[in-house]
Amino acid sequence: MVSISIHQPVPASAAPAIESPKSSFRSKNPKDINILVEGSTGYIGNFVVKELVRRGFNVIAVVRERSGIKGKNSKDETLGMLSGANACFSDVTKFEFLEESIENLGISIDVVVSCLASRSGGVKDSWLIDYEATKDSLVVGRKFGAAHFVLLSAICVQKPLLVFQRAKLKFEAELINEAEKDEDFSYSIVRPTAFFKSLAGQVELVKDGKPYVMFGDGRLCACKPISEPDLASFIADCVLSEELVNKVLPIGGPGKAVTPLEQGEMLFRLAGKEPKFLKVPIQIMDYAIGVLDFLVKIFPSLEDAAEFGKIGRYYAAESMLIWDPETGKYDADSTPSYGNDTLEGFFKRVLEQGMAGQELGEQTIF
Ligand SMILES: NC(=O)c1ccc[n+]([C@@H]2O[C@H](COP(=O)([O-])OP(=O)(O)OC[C@H]3O[C@@H](n4cnc5c(N)ncnc54)[C@H](OP(=O)(O)O)[C@@H]3O)[C@@H](O)[C@H]2O)c1
Repeated sequence: MVSISIHQPVPASAAPAIESPKSSFRSKNPKDINILVEGSTGYIGNFVVKELVRRGFNVIAVVRERSGIKGKNSKDETLGMLSGANACFSDVTKFEFLEESIENLGISIDVVVSCLASRSGGVKDSWLIDYEATKDSLVVGRKFGAAHFVLLSAICVQKPLLVFQRAKLKFEAELINEAEKDEDFSYSIVRPTAFFKSLAGQVELVKDGKPYVMFGDGRLCACKPISEPDLASFIADCVLSEELVNKVLPIGGPGKAVTPLEQGEMLFRLAGKEPKFLKVPIQIMDYAIGVLDFLVKIFPSLEDAAEFGKIGRYYAAESMLIWDPETGKYDADSTPSYGNDTLEGFFKRVLEQGMAGQELGEQTIF
């Protein structure tokens, strides 16, 4: 059963997919540019929907009836998140269903923006969402005329040690290949550094007078965190900017790179508390991963637990910055900055107003 709800009046362009020349969308009025957004109820995807609507595009947000972590949002709540966009209820994990849903809209698609991501980071779910569902959104988007695809990826795919990174890379390669085969089709692959939510896990603890926990000396890794609105704005730029076409685009927020130690110091200062750090040897994680890897051989059902351990280990030691293969080091200076929102401003807000809207994924690691 296909369920489509057009939340806003009349989609802008009701032309059949094949009629408009594929490369012409950039010269159209934004209201006549139909943008299909997948992952529109996610942390970043929802800001992307709002930003595209604010810029006047005709946004079609593909959603499931119960959205959010563990399906916490009802259909009405989901619609409430998509104000100004057309909601298309479908299932991105079922190709025919997705295809039929888009066909039933009766409009052509100019651009697909995918902010899809596995909610758990588990092994099967990563392949299902970060690769298969994202690829299906490309195939379906192309069928209905899409001439450009904007992909929200991650800077960490530069050093792919995790399943979700390999799934993303596989899709990135196929997307690039698609553009190489057809000069009327283009892509922008956006690879952000850390999101604010990924650095917010210890705000409440520090506020409650607990120590800030970090691995090693707190300088094992660094990142240039970017806010949801700033990243959404960059992604929206990718829709029309010719300069951002057919490029892989690493992107961070404003200011210099910050280590966990510097994040902790900032938090204590803002909370008006005496700094207290708990330094945990990174080898503890290696030991836990070794145990889980051994147990997975006996109990395959533990494969996600083992993967979550590896995800935790990765983000404890790897920087979210551009990796220079020649020096074998991360390079903060060559990691581009975008936007205005600072981590300091974000920490201040969370200290005052709490963590609403900053929930981590289901596995609560990253
Ligand atoms: N966290 C970081 O610091 C960081 C840094 C750089 C890059 N990234 C990357 O940024 C991307 C997006 O992250 P995010 O935090 O915005 O993701 P998120 O909040 O977890 O959102 C995921 C989106 O995908 C949808 N989705 C997941 N599974 C689905 C399914 N089975 N069926 C239908 N829809 C499904 C979700 O829909 P529902 O609401 O219906 O579940 C949601 O709209 C990820 O690829 C991540 O790797 C993250």
